[in-house]
Amino acid sequence: MIAAVADNGVIGSEGELSWHLPADLEFFYRQIEGAFLLTGRKSLESGQGQDIFNGRPYVVVTRQEGYTARGGQVAHSIKEAIAIAEKQPQDKLCVLGGAAIYEQCMPLVDELIITEIHTRPEDGDAFFPEIDTSVWREFTREDHQADAENPHDYSFVYYRK
Ligand SMILES: NC(=O)c1ccc[n+]([C@@H]2O[C@H](COP(=O)([O-])OP(=O)(O)OC[C@H]3O[C@@H](n4cnc5c(N)ncnc54)[C@H](OP(=O)(O)O)[C@@H]3O)[C@@H](O)[C@H]2O)c1
Repeated sequence: MIAAVADNGVIGSEGELSWHLPADLEFFYRQIEGAFLLTGRKSLESGQGQDIFNGRPYVVVTRQEGYTARGGQVAHSIKEAIAIAEKQPQDKLCVLGGAAIYEQCMPLVDELIITEIHTRPEDGDAFFPEIDTSVWREFTREDHQADAENPHDYSFVYYRK
């Protein structure tokens, strides 16, 4: 599972990200390279989603019957999405959110790749679930300072069970 999470747990606001950090986008695209992707319907339809899923293999989860997704497959439960992912040639599945999907997939995944964005947006309305440290162990952390292009300090953090 991969997410960018602010220090107050915020991952989005009104359907979009609350920050613009090119360094994190670059990191994100490197992490998902060659993987099969799983997304919630709302994140797929967000502005960012258009860029991420265009031309990459993915499954979208929705409760809507008859939903179609250009270039992607459609599942009506997380279980069905994972069954679809298991049939793909890619050997890695990346869960890309949003909040509803992170919450449900947290018990199912074996790695968390989190960019901590060291800011506290006040307008957030979507949150990452709590990372239970009795289950998850941080095993790599890379801290970076804000610079001319990236307005906040940020850290790339990997967790495993
Ligand atoms: N910071 C990050 O790394 C990051 C990453 C991704 C997203 N985000 C942010 O997260 C926010 C969106 O999160 P969200 O929770 O509102 O939406 P979401 O998780 O992207 O999508 C939710 C939708 O997924 C479908 N769904 C969820 N659980 C399902 C299930 N068990 N079975 C079938 N369908 C299911 C439903 O679609 P239907 O309504 O069609 O039935 C539901 O409305 C945005 O602000 C976005 O920018 C942030």
